Amino acid sequence: MTRILILGGTSEAVALAEALHADCPELEVITSLAGVTRNPVTGPGTLRTGGFGGADGLADYLLAESVDGLIDATHPFASSMAAHGESAATKIGIPRIKLVRPMWQRETGDHWIEVDDARSAAEVSKNLNPACVLITLGRRDLEPFLALTGLRLVARMIEEPENPLPPHATLLQARGPFSVADEHALMEEHAVDLLVTKAAGGNATQAKITAARERAIPVVMLRRPAMPQGPAASSVKEVMDWIADQR
Ligand SMILES: NC(=O)c1ccc[n+]([C@@H]2O[C@H](COP(=O)([O-])OP(=O)(O)OC[C@H]3O[C@@H](n4cnc5c(N)ncnc54)[C@H](OP(=O)(O)O)[C@@H]3O)[C@@H](O)[C@H]2O)c1
Repeated sequence: MTRILILGGTSEAVALAEALHADCPELEVITSLAGVTRNPVTGPGTLRTGGFGGADGLADYLLAESVDGLIDATHPFASSMAAHGESAATKIGIPRIKLVRPMWQRETGDHWIEVDDARSAAEVSKNLNPACVLITLGRRDLEPFLALTGLRLVARMIEEPENPLPPHATLLQARGPFSVADEHALMEEHAVDLLVTKAAGGNATQAKITAARERAIPVVMLRRPAMPQGPAASSVKEVMDWIADQR
């Protein structure tokens, strides 16, 4: 393996690029971003931005750039890109692994209500009759919540939504990691009594789950989409070991 493509957009992708730069300087590393975040955090190596044009476009890119190893380090909810990565690597016959952050563990005191999508999350939220909902789903999953009435919304996201939010919604543009103290302060300030989140997992955004538990606030949680078949790792170290095995 001499040239690796990391499908990025996560802190894990940055950490992996840093680890490869430090421990495998002879490997050429390209990181690919979708281009949806204006000021992305990036690691060492070459950066490319923008979609490939589906699985076939990615396969063409991998061949054209002589990439001989693919690491899918996209977010657990980036299911299209993950499927394209698996399909393209299989098509051209190069090794591929999915790096996916571990899911949060349910603890005593957690009150999680798991749902499949944002529309169901909005319905469940309405039935819980909250005064103020903290929504951390990202801008694309906000819409079903905007129609809810008789409550306040606090929507936290990295990028601004396309359309202005209605008067009962407060926009918070912020990028994690957040501390448990930060999350308590935010929930206290807005009198949040319901949290809506994706089952993203990982440490960077775990504080909101801890704060919700400590405040006895229920959490409506979007389940992760299914992962494509093939090898998977839950840490940068495991990916480094997998790379060593391939070489
Ligand atoms: N979904 C989330 O909650 C979430 C949260 C944090 C970060 N992210 C990051 O944001 C990016 C987009 O997420 P998404 O949910 O929109 O993904 P997605 O639905 O799986 O992908 C949609 C399309 O965006 C392009 N794309 C996605 N990731 C790419 C990458 N790393 N490099 C090049 N093109 C990429 C691909 O376009 P083509 O088909 O044209 O190749 C893909 O078909 C991902 O890189 C992901 O890691 C997502």
